[in-house]
Amino acid sequence: MIKVLFVCLGNICRSPTAHGVLEHIINDKQLTHKISVDSAGTGDWHINAMPDTRATEAALKRGFDLTSLRARQVTVADFYEYDYILAMDAENLKNLKALMPADFKGELSLFLPFDKTSRYSEVPDPYFGGEDGFEEVLDLVTAASHALLNHITHQHIL
Ligand code: 4NP
Repeated sequence: MIKVLFVCLGNICRSPTAHGVLEHIINDKQLTHKISVDSAGTGDWHINAMPDTRATEAALKRGFDLTSLRARQVTVADFYEYDYILAMDAENLKNLKALMPADFKGELSLFLPFDKTSRYSEVPDPYFGGEDGFEEVLDLVTAASHALLNHITHQHIL
């Protein structure tokens, strides 16, 4: 089983969106017994909260259901559980690197660069912006999710 953890700041906008989108694609491709997905935040403000309503509504319009997700904070134990820990932006990545144990065997990196065609390397934080920001998050993470899945299926014998 290959395990993927998406990480943003609050775990209520970007990483739950990526979580819901990748999980949906994994279901479609009948890979649920081979790849699992989770998400977490570096911050602790929203622990146990549902994803932001703007994120759940934008996702639902594209067929992704985020309503069962609840926010949690990333922990050191996650580094012993996940193969890919993928940060939504450089600040999250910096905070994850500070937390990473020296014997971490997986990959810790930004998420978007898996999509070689992406014009961004970071997912812009939509929290303080308008609804357009949530559409952009969906566009970026959907493209990168397909690219990540391609990478994983080629990298590992699945
Ligand atoms: P996220 O967005 O990191 O994509 O979940 C944010 C959520 C909450 C806050 C900032 C960003 N906040 O400041 O509470």
